[in-house]
Amino acid sequence: TIIPVILSGGSGTRLWPMSRPEMPKQMLALTADQTMLQLTAGRAQGERFAAPIVVANAAHADLVEAQLKDAGAEAQALILEPMGRNTAPAIALAAIAAGETGAGSGDAMLVMPSDHVIADLPAFHAAIAAALPMVAQGWLVTFGIAPDAPETGYGWIQVGEELAAGVHRVARFVEKPPLDKAEAMLASGDHAWNGGIFLFRADAYLAALAQHDPGILVATTDAMKLARREGTRIYPDAEAFAASPDDSIDYAVMEKADRVAVVPVAMGWNDVGSWDALHAISARDADGNAHRGDGDGSVLAIDTKNCLVRSDGVKVALVGVEDLIVVASGNDVLIMPRGRSQEVKKLIAAMKNR
Ligand code: GDD
Ligand code: MG
Repeated sequence: TIIPVILSGGSGTRLWPMSRPEMPKQMLALTADQTMLQLTAGRAQGERFAAPIVVANAAHADLVEAQLKDAGAEAQALILEPMGRNTAPAIALAAIAAGETGAGSGDAMLVMPSDHVIADLPAFHAAIAAALPMVAQGWLVTFGIAPDAPETGYGWIQVGEELAAGVHRVARFVEKPPLDKAEAMLASGDHAWNGGIFLFRADAYLAALAQHDPGILVATTDAMKLARREGTRIYPDAEAFAASPDDSIDYAVMEKADRVAVVPVAMGWNDVGSWDALHAISARDADGNAHRGDGDGSVLAIDTKNCLVRSDGVKVALVGVEDLIVVASGNDVLIMPRGRSQEVKKLIAAMKNR
């Protein structure tokens, strides 16, 4: 069986004011009635999958547990990090736990970010099935998305020769390139975005870490040895874990490892990285508006076009406006034109400095 590993440690600051440190993006119902975390868990259910291992910040323990329970997707292990050390150590904790609780460390792990949308589930499952033969041979497999913009926030993969049906060698993996490199890779026609979803044997990942970033392996192994356990909850030792280098799987492993493969797949993938992205993937009415009032009737729009309007409580009423993003959450309101939602980062920085 495949062990789903769900990473739920990010903060998703670009979706302020709904996403906040205490209630980050993945815990919100942004695209459907279920939260992004619940939707993620639902993508890896069925006879092929074991119960998930979820890696989250300890501050979110109750929230994560409640959401998974509500979705009927209780974790076999909930690993609660004392602090964030990025994805390479988080996945290492899960790989070590898989070796303890699963059928053995040779099990395949499907590592999924908790904050993405995948519209075409059968396509995702077919891509997983295609990857499995190479996974069994110890390859690290990722999923490639056809790029349509020179994104600098993604990993880029040069798609090499076909190794097995639908599975290609990764000729080169470049994490978060500068704009000119991203433009060149987009123009080349032989590159894909890294979807941030990985499939590999737990032992293959740990072996790659031992080779390319042994400090992470040592720290996470110690943290798990000294971990406190309460039922399905695992609290890695804080001092040992704090000693781990802070790095993502992309930089620490995928850029460097030899046996890395990619399955190109069209599955309606979106990482919902901004309010504009959410508008683009949301259902819209005849006037192009995407509204979702989380409280009943909290959004009212007259003669309004192409707006994204969200409220989790207060009534928001619009008349005669176009192309706006309006988000009301708690005591905070965000208003900006569509197309500028990357600038929420600037807002967050400005608010920190006041
Ligand atoms: N448990 C845990 N601990 N989870 C974490 C941590 C951590 O310290 N840091 C991040 N995560 C989770 C996030 O919540 C998210 O679900 C996932 O891991 C990926 O982290 P991001 O911080 O969102 O990565 P990214 O978006 O910059 O880049 C990754 O995803 C891109 C696609 O969206 C990379 O894999 C890129 O190569 C890829 O293109
Ligand atoms: Mg991300």
